Formats: sequence, structure tokens, C-alpha cells
Amino acid sequence: MITQLGYVAFGVKDVDRWETVASQVVGLAVSDRGSDGTLYLRMDQYHHRILVHPSGEDDIVYLGWLVRGPSELRQMRDRLVSAGVEVADGTPEEVAVRKIRDLFSFRDPAGYRMEIFYGPLDRTHEPFRPARAMEGFKAGRLGLGHVVLKVEDRDAVERFYVDVLGLTLSDYGSGKLAFFRCNPRHHSIAIMPATMGHGNSRIVHLMLEALSLDDLGTSMDLCEQHGVKMLETLGKHPNDLTTSFYLETPSGFGIEYGTGGREIDEVNWEVRSYDKRDLWGHKRLA
Ligand SMILES: [Fe+2]
Repeated sequence: MITQLGYVAFGVKDVDRWETVASQVVGLAVSDRGSDGTLYLRMDQYHHRILVHPSGEDDIVYLGWLVRGPSELRQMRDRLVSAGVEVADGTPEEVAVRKIRDLFSFRDPAGYRMEIFYGPLDRTHEPFRPARAMEGFKAGRLGLGHVVLKVEDRDAVERFYVDVLGLTLSDYGSGKLAFFRCNPRHHSIAIMPATMGHGNSRIVHLMLEALSLDDLGTSMDLCEQHGVKMLETLGKHPNDLTTSFYLETPSGFGIEYGTGGREIDEVNWEVRSYDKRDLWGHKRLA
């Protein structure tokens, strides 16, 4: 079974601007630049959680779901193949770029490239140090945060995530949003109908969770200092209870900079529906 959202990769036009915003505003650490210019961004004990490739799409290019080890990787591969999903085994180059042990890839019904992998490179011996003053990020076993993706056939994607990938539905949001989890983090992925989303990219936003409200407030100040546009004011969602604001990445899509998100108690959770997106705030600025 999938244990967490392990990594996410973007293809972008301006890697250098990404490096500035990710490190100086968001606080992620730069752990490496690959020979092709790929930027590796770190937020916890792992070598990286975000890969920024200089391939120019200004969009998400793949994401990686972590499983415990090699036998779980084989089980997931068998599970997808028996569901009629076309899978491709990872090449030595793909494994090397991601600094993991092994992976296989497939497309979800909306066409997003997803990978199942195990064995990420751990850097516990060099503790994470944020690139600017802050406490840090809540990640580790909860995964890197969450992504919200636009999809054409929302119902087909929901069935695929639950029945084939084995994710758990957390709840439904306003406007046909659906939220899925794979650990106590309220959601690691959410989907919305493509007609609802704004912007040119297929990803709506990436959420990263800071450890404190001060980290978030500092980030708001740094947006102004570094000329980064805020997309939404401070606010709070009623379902995951994350306090957050949204900033614009150099690729146009958002980063939801959050703190204090709820963790789900599996035993007592029941799927809920919400018809209001925000408890308060989140006024759209752009
Ligand atoms: Fe979000």
C-alpha cells in the first residue's frame, strides 16, 4: 500500500527564479543541481522532495507515491496490471535521477504520470537546515504535503484513486472537489473538474506545511521583499483546518503555504461534504 506522497516533479522555464523563490521565500533547502540543471529541493530528512527540471512545461510532470519496500512495489505493480493499467518499469536513468532504489510508472485516467517507488535517499546525518530563518516543515511520514490537480473525468479519477491505487477518500469539497489520503495527513492529493480551475497549468497548487504560524507570516513578508505575487490572502479551509495563504510560483501555479493542518483519526473518520471552501479569508488577489 502507498504510505505517502514521496516526491513531486515540475518542468519549468526558469529554474534560477524557482531556486530563489523556493529557498529565499518558501525556505526549502537546495540539496543539489543535476548535470542537466535539475534543482533538488529538500524539506526534511530526505535528500529531496521536489525536483525542478528545466524542461519548460511550467507544470507538474510526475509525482511519486512511496511504498515500504521491494515486495510492496511488486504487489502494487501486480495490482495495477490486474486492473488493466499499462505500467512501465523504471529505467536505470530514472532511478538515478530520483536517487531511489526502484520505481514503475503509469498514467492515471486524467493523464498524469504517476510513479510508485521505494528507497528514497535519506540524509539524517546532515540534518535539514532551511534556507532562511524558520522552524521548518511538517513532512516525514506524512509525506511532502499535497497537490491539487485539474481532471477531465472527475468520477473516473476518483474511482481509480480509491479502487486501484488504494487511497482513502477523506471528503468532498465545494464545487466537486474530492480529497484523498494515504496516511493521517488529511489529503495528499485532491482533484477538481478542469472547467473550474484557473490558470494555464494542470496543477492548481502544491501545499507545503510549515511548523509554525511565524514561518507562514515570515513567508508573507518575504513574498513582498522578493516580488512574489500572493494569489490569496490568509485564510482557513473547513475540512483540513489548514491556515494558509497562496503564493504564485515562477511557473504561474500556486503554492499553498500552510500550517496547523488536521491529522485524521482513521477509526472515527466518516466522509463529509462541504459546500463552503473557506472558514474565513482566502480572498483571491490574482
Ligand atoms: Fe490545498
